Amino acid sequence: MKKVWLILPFVMLNASEDFISHYEYGEMLYNNPRGVSCAQCHGEDGSGTIIVELKDKHVTNTISGSDIRKKSLDVMIESVNRYHEIMPRYYLTDEEIRAIYDFIQKKNKLYLIAQEKRDSSQ
Ligand code: HEC
Repeated sequence: MKKVWLILPFVMLNASEDFISHYEYGEMLYNNPRGVSCAQCHGEDGSGTIIVELKDKHVTNTISGSDIRKKSLDVMIESVNRYHEIMPRYYLTDEEIRAIYDFIQKKNKLYLIAQEKRDSSQ
């Protein structure tokens, strides 16, 4: 199983032009970049999700992945390449991060248009 992950990224890199669309490539990367999925923490569409809930008698502490739908490509590249407290550091190329970025942009097209309209009418 482990070997597959070593080979897969290269196969997918070559395949991205020919066999799968840029969107599908980004979707694949978003869901499984080297085995640790962005979706686990940022949700299926980048809007964020609960990672863990720590409950004791009185309080529930929640750790969540943030909403990254409105993050710029620059922020995404910077963020993926740096250490965080919770988020792992990834070793993805700028091209791979761009595919993830484009996937999130496209998946949330309607949301982002609505946000832009709202922002410009304020
Ligand atoms: C284990 C959970 C986890 C995974 C997996 C994860 N993230 Fe995050 N991410 C977080 C958390 C929590 C934050 C906000 C706090 C922080 O910076 O640590 C964050 C922040 C971000 C930010 C915003 C940074 C900023 O400066 O505003 C971006 C962009 C981002 N993640 C993209 C990604 C991408 C792309 C992937 C997959 C390659 C990914 N994350 C995987 C938990 C995760």
